[in-house]
Amino acid sequence: MQTRTVSDLLSQKITPAEVDIKGWVRTFRANRFIALNDGSTINNIQCVVDFENTDETILKRITTGAAVHIKGELVESLGKGQNVEINVKSIEVLGDSDPETYPIQPKKHSFEFLRENAHLRTRTNTFSAVMRLRSALSFAIHKYFNDNGFYYMHAPIITGSDAEGAGEMFRVSSLDAKNPPLTEDGQIDYSKDFFGKETNLTVSGQLEAETYAMSLGKVYTFGPTFRAENSNTSRHLAEFWMIEPEVAFMDLAGNMDLAESFLKYVIKYVLDNNRDDLDFLNQRLLDEEKAKPQAERSDMSLIEKLNFVTENNFMRLSYTEAINILRESTPNKKKKFKYIIEEWGADLQSEHERFLVEKHFKCPVILYDYPANIKAFYMRLNDDGKTVRAMDILFPGIGEIVGGAQREERLDILKKKMAALHIPEEDLWWYLDLRKYGTAVHSGFGLGFERLVMFATGMGNIRDVIPFPRTPQNAEF
Ligand code: 4AD
Ligand code: MG
Repeated sequence: MQTRTVSDLLSQKITPAEVDIKGWVRTFRANRFIALNDGSTINNIQCVVDFENTDETILKRITTGAAVHIKGELVESLGKGQNVEINVKSIEVLGDSDPETYPIQPKKHSFEFLRENAHLRTRTNTFSAVMRLRSALSFAIHKYFNDNGFYYMHAPIITGSDAEGAGEMFRVSSLDAKNPPLTEDGQIDYSKDFFGKETNLTVSGQLEAETYAMSLGKVYTFGPTFRAENSNTSRHLAEFWMIEPEVAFMDLAGNMDLAESFLKYVIKYVLDNNRDDLDFLNQRLLDEEKAKPQAERSDMSLIEKLNFVTENNFMRLSYTEAINILRESTPNKKKKFKYIIEEWGADLQSEHERFLVEKHFKCPVILYDYPANIKAFYMRLNDDGKTVRAMDILFPGIGEIVGGAQREERLDILKKKMAALHIPEEDLWWYLDLRKYGTAVHSGFGLGFERLVMFATGMGNIRDVIPFPRTPQNAEF
């Protein structure tokens, strides 16, 4: 007899059977019914205690949150909501949980409260479901790329280059902050620092991934990225995970095809493999919606939304077309947008992105060919001289989920672009080398992993889809 999981036992066809199981008590009712969970599934297994023949002191220790070891017989259940249950023959309390102080009571807790108890929040149905889905999505991502001939590349986390050029980086230094070495003109002397130069936590593995794409052909990174932007929104983290495929000989159209097929695959994967967790989250959202006025309720349930994405083509249109739609839109004319769209060239705010996706097209949208001056230096300049081969994918309820581009593969044009933005060639000599030796069309994109998890779980705040969120003024745990 081996220890098995609750998930195994609930799918067991043959009863009765001797079983041996360990888990945490979710509830203990009527001195008789333990709802036991071990994290293997959203479902609890009911364990029926013969309380007349169980020591009183043991019964008292069976409290919410306690860890227990149960041996007994798996039998068909006559009770509602489960096929099988365990008739407990012996129960050992492995770890007590004081019901007076245990924060996770068997009742509804607010997400804010659970964020403060992030070390225990995966003992709730919602967070265990979200984190199992996060794990499944991560596996599906590796599976998609592996099945499609991509190599997994580990880009460095400490870097000397600023890929996005936005300058929102966390410095990595071992200098004494109180007494740093100074240069003759009073600046901090980074040549004395650990790496002999200024270094930061990476904002993206793209530039390094490009070097591997230009030798291994098809690669992807999947790692942590860091941004010191002070945006305290429900969609930004200071530490988040990004998936960045990069492919040689692929143009922007190929890039859009790849991103669309990839997103559909990973969403389909969880629909097919994580149904219990999705059904639970689907119901959670339906219940939440009931509390809202009719007009604010969404047209589709979570599962309908996920199916919709896997079954329908994403809408593809250029930035210019999008600007025309936005300029003519009712919220723009009635000045309902915070940022009114007046001219071509304006950067799109999330209110505009969400209007396009949620109100106008009502489906995922890929915008491409953005104005060069609102995008990063590495994007390929179009023949019009003013737009670049960028693409952003916008999702309902999320806004931008993917940002990508065809890369500038022409040495002279890339150098001009860098000069205009005061990016020193010495810093990116290796990146320029790719354009000197065997340069070719290539493209890639970055998917914000937590934004994908938000979409797949229907969670409204990015802090609730990563185990221990890092945001301005917050690095607890
Ligand atoms: O659009 P971004 O900045 O693109 C890049 O970093 C490129 N180097 C990607 C590439 O082409 N290889 O970021 C990509 C995605 C965004 O679309 C968004 O989903 C996510 O990363 N993202 C964030 N997610 C959480 N918190 C933040 N602060 C994020 N910033 C970007
Ligand atoms: Mg972007």
